Amino acid sequence: MTDNKFLNINGKTKIAGVTGNPISHSKSPKIHNFWLNENNIDGVYIPIPIKVGDFNDVVKSMAKIGIMGMNVTSPYKIEAYNICDELSDCAREIGAVNTLTFKDNGTIHGDCTDAYGFYQALIDMNKNFTIKDKVALVIGAGGASRAIIWQLIHENASKVIIANRTISKAEDIVKSLNIQDKCEVISINDMESHLQDIHLLVNTTTLGATKENDLHINLENLNKNATVYDILYNPTETTLLQNAKANGNPYLNGEGMLLHQAVPAFTRWFKIKPDVTSNLYKYIYG
Ligand code: ATR
Repeated sequence: MTDNKFLNINGKTKIAGVTGNPISHSKSPKIHNFWLNENNIDGVYIPIPIKVGDFNDVVKSMAKIGIMGMNVTSPYKIEAYNICDELSDCAREIGAVNTLTFKDNGTIHGDCTDAYGFYQALIDMNKNFTIKDKVALVIGAGGASRAIIWQLIHENASKVIIANRTISKAEDIVKSLNIQDKCEVISINDMESHLQDIHLLVNTTTLGATKENDLHINLENLNKNATVYDILYNPTETTLLQNAKANGNPYLNGEGMLLHQAVPAFTRWFKIKPDVTSNLYKYIYG
């Protein structure tokens, strides 16, 4: 497929886009334009660079000029949350928005589809996967972790253990999501003693993105059926995933999460639920 196919813009073409700062690295334009082309939709999805301080003005203008909606990435997910008139349950409870929909009546709807994308990628890998009545260990307590913990609790995990360098940040998530009865907070240094009983291990930190800042966990005590999930996708196999592979555990990186989180946005704006196919993987990740 060549990108030239996407240039049939006319007076009726529907427009959506993505903002963040920086935004040039975003894979979202390629994902959404692939689906627009695949589904023969008269639409285009563009990067929308917004300078820090201009977010509110620009987004309100976008809503006024008939754009369908926008994805929002770092550092604007909280500002996006604050600009919304309506919120999905997930966005409201997490306090962050990655998908804005500009409605015909002028209101702005916000959703946080990272949580959905995270879990859907697991199901895509193994359709029998479930965390219901099982224990998950989530490493990290940033924005991504918050969405993932929310999803695991909503999928009825019996317990979510949160391991973080800064304990207070993990405690803040537990308190703000009001999930004290389902969570245990531990230091990132104590993870290995908690591996026996878990069904899912998730890294949400940036540890592993470079060899200098890597995540070293001895997975010896991990149950062989436990899935190891690193939401990083660059490198495609972090040290954590290499260890999981060597240990014989099922594992996945963040490639699927990024593709699946785009599905609800596309569906909302263009009224067709797109497929996450091997062709899409190939087109986005080579
Ligand atoms: P995001 O919004 O993408 O989740 P973030 O909010 O910056 O990113 O969160 C980064 C996570 O990586 C945090 O859990 C952070 O730990 P702290 O809460 O202690 O800061 C974790 N992290 C980043 N660098 C780390 C390092 N060198 N060692 C341990 N944890 C690290």
